[in-house]
Amino acid sequence: MFMLPTRTHNRAGVAIIAIGLAIAAFCLPSTASAAGTPARVVAAPVQDAGEYVGQDTCVTCHEDQSYKGTTHALASNPRTPAAGHGCESCHGPGKAHAEAGGDTTKIVRLGQLKPQDASVYCTSCHDRGTHALWAGSQHDQRNVGCISCHSVHAPKGAKLLKAANQTAQCATCHKNVTNKQNRFNHMPVREGKLECTSCHNVHGSTNVKLLKVGTTVDEACTSCHAEKRGPFLWEHAPVANACVTCHDPHGTNNDRMLQAKLPYLCQRCHVTSRHPPTVYEGFLLQNSTNGNKIFGRSCTVCHQQIHGSNAPSGKAFLR
Ligand code: HEC
Ligand code: HEC
Ligand code: HEC
Ligand code: HEC
Ligand code: HEC
Ligand code: HEC
Ligand code: HEC
Ligand code: HEC
Ligand code: HEC
Ligand code: HEC
Repeated sequence: MFMLPTRTHNRAGVAIIAIGLAIAAFCLPSTASAAGTPARVVAAPVQDAGEYVGQDTCVTCHEDQSYKGTTHALASNPRTPAAGHGCESCHGPGKAHAEAGGDTTKIVRLGQLKPQDASVYCTSCHDRGTHALWAGSQHDQRNVGCISCHSVHAPKGAKLLKAANQTAQCATCHKNVTNKQNRFNHMPVREGKLECTSCHNVHGSTNVKLLKVGTTVDEACTSCHAEKRGPFLWEHAPVANACVTCHDPHGTNNDRMLQAKLPYLCQRCHVTSRHPPTVYEGFLLQNSTNGNKIFGRSCTVCHQQIHGSNAPSGKAFLR
């Protein structure tokens, strides 16, 4: 039978698929019968094939399947389903389905598709701006689709989210990360000052770990903490490398979300130097003045400019 090209992501592709489908319509009893084809073969968006019957007909039988009150229902925006084919913008032309009194093989059942495959119907409209990099992104690759996070008909949160809020949505899969919000020091997500999506674009990005801005972790951090960006006269090597060497971006039980308590954090790398930054045991503490290295803010009492210094004599980040 006809092998349809799969998972198109650009307008030209959609057009080709549409033509392909028009031809395929002669060979296939209906688009929905593609359900029986191998998992990776997806019936592409069917906007231009088959016959439309109009939303008014659909709701005569499906009155409870509304999307009223959501952005999709704003007919004033010419790109919305409401301004286009209504229900059929997403579910495909439904004349045959309606005339057969609701034959489910003649309609696209988005809830029955693999999330990854259902996304193709959404990206027929949402393929630009913040969604341009969806195809092949971490979520897409792992079969997390638009409908894993969004619900068109019964959203519980803003932006059509399935959960009441963003953190709850992410928590359904990333509990290890969202739990860090309960640690002693955390990014103020719980307090409402930041959201997961302040740093991440879950729809795809040019950076690692779906970070929204830049191409490195540091660029993501310094997009808000600009004063840590440098370049400094005296760079502290790990800072220029990656903030997350010392900080956990989601939260830890140490001050300033540090990966380890001071002085241990510093001592992971600095084991010998002119003044001993080594682990201080009883003998050393009692027989030297080095006790001052572990009290209060520890090493950073003196090495205050730990992220780098612009002072001519700031080589040791003391000023
Ligand atoms: C913006 C895309 C979109 C539009 C417009 C849309 N739907 Fe849906 N529909 C979906 C998705 C996605 C699902 C899968 C379940 C979910 O995610 O809520 C679905 C599920 C359904 C279901 C299956 C019931 C279920 O809960 O799984 C029916 C029936 C349905 N839609 C009918 C309609 C009707 C009737 C309209 C027009 C009034 C309509 N849809 C408009 C996307 C859409
Ligand atoms: C004559 C009544 C009728 C009309 C008109 C009608 N449907 Fe249906 N539809 C049904 C019936 C009956 C079912 C099967 C319900 C079931 O099995 O739970 C169904 C099933 C569906 C499903 C699959 C539900 C699922 O569980 O996955 C979708 C999606 C759907 N219809 C969308 C539409 C759309 C879009 C339109 C308008 C183009 C439409 N229907 C018009 C009666 C109708
Ligand atoms: C016919 C085109 C079309 C299709 C198909 C479509 N959308 Fe949309 N959607 C829009 C438009 C237009 C908006 C308004 C915002 C914009 O302009 O981007 C929108 C808005 C949204 C929003 C933001 C809602 C808000 O309150 O801000 C979400 C989330 C969304 N769509 C998800 C989906 C999902 C999931 C699907 C697939 C099941 C889908 N859309 C299918 C056109 C479409
Ligand atoms: C991992 C969960 C998740 C997945 C998967 C997901 N979204 Fe979203 N989406 C969100 C969250 C959270 C927001 C609100 C924050 C934001 O704007 O980024 C959002 C916002 C949106 C918006 C409104 C803001 C904007 O960026 O324009 C649209 C439209 C949208 N999503 C569509 C989609 C479509 C289409 C897909 C599939 C291609 C998709 N989403 C997949 C979680 C998700
Ligand atoms: C349905 C489950 C699911 C939901 C909901 C979900 N994710 Fe994911 N997420 C995944 C999977 C699976 C991966 C891929 C993990 C991998 O490749 O190791 C992933 C990857 C990621 C990555 C990239 C990790 C990497 O190693 O590159 C980030 C960042 C992320 N998700 C953030 C979020 C955020 C923020 C939300 C909430 C808006 C969210 N996710 C909701 C399942 C989910
Ligand atoms: C302050 C910015 C920021 C915020 C806010 C943020 N993240 Fe992250 N996230 C990051 C960075 C940076 C990484 C990469 C960490 C690394 O490379 O070690 C990351 C990595 C991840 C990963 C990949 C797994 C891992 O641990 O490396 C997931 C999943 C994730 N974040 C989910 C979330 C969720 C869910 C939220 C909301 C509760 C959230 N993030 C809020 C910056 C942030
Ligand atoms: C979207 C903006 C934004 C991004 C991106 C961002 N932060 Fe923050 N950061 C904040 C805000 C807001 C606070 C809270 C400041 C306050 O409460 O005064 C904060 C606080 C902090 C704190 C201090 C916590 C404390 O206990 O005082 C550290 C450390 C930190 N961020 C590190 C990072 C790192 C590392 C990255 C990159 C992974 C990063 N930030 C990315 C906005 C951001
Ligand atoms: C070598 C380890 C290390 C690295 C790498 C590092 N930091 Fe820090 N950071 C610290 C320490 C230690 C403190 C606490 C300083 C103090 O208590 O005076 C701190 C404090 C902070 C604070 C809160 C206090 C302040 O000075 O505003 C922010 C924000 C911050 N770091 C952001 C960043 C960013 C952004 C990066 C990457 C560009 C980064 N850090 C890289 C060790 C590091
Ligand atoms: C990931 C490893 C790492 C961590 C953690 C780290 N540093 Fe460094 N630090 C370096 C490297 C590498 C250099 C550059 C050494 C050189 O140029 O010889 C350096 C340089 C320094 C210097 C300047 C040395 C000089 O030669 O003048 C000081 C002072 C310093 N670090 C203090 C600290 C303190 C205090 C902490 C804890 C808050 C810390 N470092 C955490 C790797 C680290
Ligand atoms: C009481 C102040 C003070 C404290 C606390 C302190 N340092 Fe220093 N540190 C100094 C001074 C002063 C220098 C020498 C600076 C110079 O030569 O210009 C120095 C130099 C260094 C150097 C560079 C040494 C070299 O061999 O060139 C490193 C690395 C360093 N300290 C790490 C640490 C670490 C790690 C801690 C915490 C365990 C720490 N310091 C705590 C004052 C302090």
